[in-house]
Amino acid sequence: MDTQDDLINFPPPRSMKCPFDPAPVLTDLQRSAGIGRVKIWNESQPWLITRHEDVKAVFADESRVSADPSKPGYPEQNAGYKATVGADRSLRTLDNPEHDIQKRMIMGSLSAHAVEAIRPKIQQTVDGLIDDMLAKGNKADLVADFAAVIPMQVLCDLLGIPYADREFFASNVETSFSHATTQAEAEAAAAAFFEYLDRQVDAKLAQPDDALMSRLIHNQMASGKLTRQDVKEIVRSLVFAGTETTTSAIGLGMLTLLRHPDQMAEIVATDDRKLLTNAVFELMRYLGITHTGRRRVITAPVQVGDQILQPGEGVIIANTLADRDEQIFPDADRFDIHRPNAKNTLAFGYGVHQCPGQYLSRVEQQVVLATLPRRISSLRLAVPFDAVRFKETGTMYGLHELPVEWDA
Ligand code: HEM
Repeated sequence: MDTQDDLINFPPPRSMKCPFDPAPVLTDLQRSAGIGRVKIWNESQPWLITRHEDVKAVFADESRVSADPSKPGYPEQNAGYKATVGADRSLRTLDNPEHDIQKRMIMGSLSAHAVEAIRPKIQQTVDGLIDDMLAKGNKADLVADFAAVIPMQVLCDLLGIPYADREFFASNVETSFSHATTQAEAEAAAAAFFEYLDRQVDAKLAQPDDALMSRLIHNQMASGKLTRQDVKEIVRSLVFAGTETTTSAIGLGMLTLLRHPDQMAEIVATDDRKLLTNAVFELMRYLGITHTGRRRVITAPVQVGDQILQPGEGVIIANTLADRDEQIFPDADRFDIHRPNAKNTLAFGYGVHQCPGQYLSRVEQQVVLATLPRRISSLRLAVPFDAVRFKETGTMYGLHELPVEWDA
């Protein structure tokens, strides 16, 4: 049995010599026992599950593994998160049968069919942003000027909330996701977001529109299937889950391609949509954006490896480590847009809680890959790689900024 002092403090720091790779101590755990206890912010000692096969099995085991943070033993991200986002009763935190009922209410807007219908609009947004960057000169911050804008614009349109308020949304997401945020700051951010959404509910009651928030109000809330608070929590969860994640994917994704010029050149030269689709799956596998893992609590004994996990024990499902499992992805630390099984990535989770926004996010990324490197073919980093600032201390991995330049 590990002593308290042997335990990994989770999340441990990465080696910034290889900022795309998981912390070496976690890779060691994956290659040795595969599962072990770790210590988190509140001194509790949840299990960390690292192997692809185990991660899939635990994600799928919804009758014995709960996603409900109100259950004792649930290993929450940090105190601020526990008091705010973690207290939401939206689909991420619901078990069945409530979960599936809520998920069905939003899936129509996020289906492949619905997303393909807005692909031209996404293309237009990406083209417009590139026009703006080119018009301003030969330098840009690819996070603020590009990667952060696309998902925010898309999500505001999808929900029917004003894009003019994007800075408020973005700073609220930032505060809520950072481990540096105090509980009081997280609570103030949550209160501000709910007050804002209250005004939006009133506005949409008075004047319905065709977008998702209005439909939730007029179809589900009006018929008593959702409360006003449910609507606000669903909308907030979509803003939280659908913006910073894809911003990170675009920013880190472009940085990865700038570090792999041969693969960037192939992407520029190809018209093969299948290669672009695979490149995005491979980026999702490689980038490990949800790097603090998905959280669950055991409700009936479950065997994982040699361990029997008991009711009330917390579990951190390290889906991003599973994506570096050599048993499934040979030479897993290598980025390869031709990897034959890249689509087996667990970046979007698995099982009942699998990401409903994955098709949308993948299309946003595909449009970026098909457009940006072609239109700005001399795109390059404007600072040494060592000077790029990674967001290490949030629940999502990402970049603070990505200074780039190109030939004038
Ligand atoms: C790169 C982009 C994204 C990544 C890496 C990502 C990752 C994930 C993961 C790993 C889960 C599973 C959570 C769990 O099992 O605990 C999840 C769930 C979720 N995601 Fe995403 N996501 C992304 C983009 C999006 C987008 C664009 C949206 C919305 C438009 C979205 C909305 C959601 C929601 C609502 C859930 C909860 C689903 C449920 O519990 O059934 N995500 N996401």
